[in-house]
Amino acid sequence: CMISFPGYDTVIQELYTHNQEHVFEYWDELSGKEKKLLLDDLSSVDVSQLESLFTTACSETPAPLTYAPAAYTAVPRTAEENELYSQARRMGEEHIRNGKVAAFLVAGGQGTRLGFDGPKGAYPVGPVSGKSLFHIHGEKIRAYSKKYDTVIPWLIMTSVVNHEATVDYFTTRKYFGLRKEHVFIFPQNMIPSLDLSGKLILKNCYSLFKNPDGHGGSLTALRTSGMISEMERRGIATISYFQVDNPLVKIIDPVFIGFHVMEKADISSKGMMKTGPREKVGVFVERSDGKSGILEYSDMTEEMQDARDPKGDLVYCMGNPAIHLFSLEFIKDITSGGSLSLPYHVAKKKIEALRSGGYSEIRGYKFEKFVFDAIPLAKKTILLETVREEEFAPVKNKSGEDSVETARELMNRLSFKWLAARNIPVPDITKVVEISPLRAVEPEDLAGEVPPREKVYLD
Ligand code: UD1
Repeated sequence: CMISFPGYDTVIQELYTHNQEHVFEYWDELSGKEKKLLLDDLSSVDVSQLESLFTTACSETPAPLTYAPAAYTAVPRTAEENELYSQARRMGEEHIRNGKVAAFLVAGGQGTRLGFDGPKGAYPVGPVSGKSLFHIHGEKIRAYSKKYDTVIPWLIMTSVVNHEATVDYFTTRKYFGLRKEHVFIFPQNMIPSLDLSGKLILKNCYSLFKNPDGHGGSLTALRTSGMISEMERRGIATISYFQVDNPLVKIIDPVFIGFHVMEKADISSKGMMKTGPREKVGVFVERSDGKSGILEYSDMTEEMQDARDPKGDLVYCMGNPAIHLFSLEFIKDITSGGSLSLPYHVAKKKIEALRSGGYSEIRGYKFEKFVFDAIPLAKKTILLETVREEEFAPVKNKSGEDSVETARELMNRLSFKWLAARNIPVPDITKVVEISPLRAVEPEDLAGEVPPREKVYLD
């Protein structure tokens, strides 16, 4: 017979109606407090939504859309294009100087692929300094604020999994020299995972197994955390979005911001040439419904990944480095009414579950929203090509491809490129150079000498 608890009967009824009453398997063993915890956890769950997500996950219906490669503004080559870039830079610089830009870091992911127990941002990547991703990002924001004599608020989205650890990390390191009142750390929402037959999964006797709702949850999280109003109050117009795993990202790029402002875009994105057909990046597309968007690598058929044009170049060549600008007005608009409905993507994952009295590893469905699914909602978007070596060094894996080793090597190469651009000689003995963002955020900032040591940190 159905269990009962004062004040929660509708919630309980809902679970029975959807055949999810197995979540009460340990009911009789729970204390009053634990019962309440479980019911509160269940109250936040939309069971009918999960039911329909499950149905979609199981159905093999082909994607309703077809795709063509997206048009983009290529890296400037002609004098005319260079002039346009200079114009954009001037406009972007003014926008930054006027305090209209905030930085937005998504760092809610679990970093499981890296095998690192802690927030991914705490991972040491500096090839000489050993500084962490958070530290490097923080120094960049300090450097840009100083360069443009302005305040750049820094929004950081975490998840329940790493929120406290992230706040601790920032606190013990004194916010890397930033003023605390300009740094906002807030967690994203969670969504329950389901087992392969569509049932909710218990993490322990009184709580469900959930996963962060994907970086697509970041736009809603901006609203629910009160950040949209806070940014409005501060006169922010543009949100510069980046991922925690890229130490080379130009967090505040005047040229990119200039194009975004000039074109009055809702969302602007950077794109980069893919290294090859199998590179694990999403690609920019024009959809058959006339909208722009990004198609994730896991959603592309091999045929699509391999497609080449008559010249032999990849057809879907513009990869996604996950660097976007959002107009605050647009985010405000699409999240108003609290019902931003980005589609959920499903992945089969291993999950540690409690069932029939013991813990075991099962397979289940995790649901996630992707932030770039907001692109098709925009009236105006732009896509600007960026030079990969100048701003993409993803830290995804422990070793091999896209690992901390490759990222360190890419950082080192860029340092050498900047030094060469400034005609600063590098002593023969020097093999590794790391440039602190406090010293330079672009080659033009760089001056001085490289001391004759094997590893040099220019701070
Ligand atoms: C991502 C992009 C891919 C892009 C590539 C570039 C997706 C789905 N794909 O792939 O198109 O080419 O980066 O490096 O994003 N995060 C959250 N909350 C979540 C999930 C993720 O904040 O719930 C954050 C992570 O902390 C990380 C970022 O989002 O900063 C990317 O997540 P990740 O899972 O590493 O995406 P990729 O598969 O590497």
